[in-house]
Amino acid sequence: MNAVLETIQSRRSVRAYTEQQVSAEDLNLILEAATYAPNGMHLETWHFTAIQNAAVLTELNEKIKGAFRKSDDVHLQERGKSQTYCCYYHAPTLIVVSNDSARWWAPMDCACALQNIFLAAKSLGIGSCWINQLGQTCDDPEVRAFLTKLGIPENQKVYGCAALGYAPADAPVKEKKLAEGTVTIIK
Ligand SMILES: Cc1cc2nc3c(=O)[nH]c(=O)nc-3n(C[C@H](O)[C@H](O)[C@H](O)COP(=O)(O)O)c2cc1C
Repeated sequence: MNAVLETIQSRRSVRAYTEQQVSAEDLNLILEAATYAPNGMHLETWHFTAIQNAAVLTELNEKIKGAFRKSDDVHLQERGKSQTYCCYYHAPTLIVVSNDSARWWAPMDCACALQNIFLAAKSLGIGSCWINQLGQTCDDPEVRAFLTKLGIPENQKVYGCAALGYAPADAPVKEKKLAEGTVTIIK
């Protein structure tokens, strides 16, 4: 199997991280890979905000929890009230992927970029996970104000985030079970 296919097949979502930070060199490679993703009409309206500051990440998590507390969904309310809930699993790096919400393909651009991020990270020995909670809450006024403070353009929504870091050495590697019948080949 070639290296690309091996990287695709061995990537798994990582939900526990050590404190080891992703180096500037690796982060730049991962962000560069993101910008090489296909995107609608090659307009590159997306924005990538990499956060490596633990205090900023904690504050972002608190804003998300605040938005969850306002939700009608009991499960989200519980998360919002929890002392321990951390949507990004205490990863040392979070890349927020946002895009111009006026373009209907904005989420697709971001999904392509996120997959490049996950695969680039895997190829560098770095664990990753898609983090959705900011996508759910980015329109909450307090979350939005915080995103603006971080430099995320006002006309953009967050469509996903990538947690990045190193899995603990003893972390089990989840076996991937694939559903049958999801592929049709017509000749
Ligand atoms: C659109 C999308 C949203 C996701 N949101 C989350 C999330 O918020 N938190 C999380 O732990 N995993 C999230 N995931 C990861 C999926 O749970 C994971 O990819 C799936 O269980 C398959 O496992 P694997 O990534 O290890 O192959 C998300 C994945 C996608 C594609």
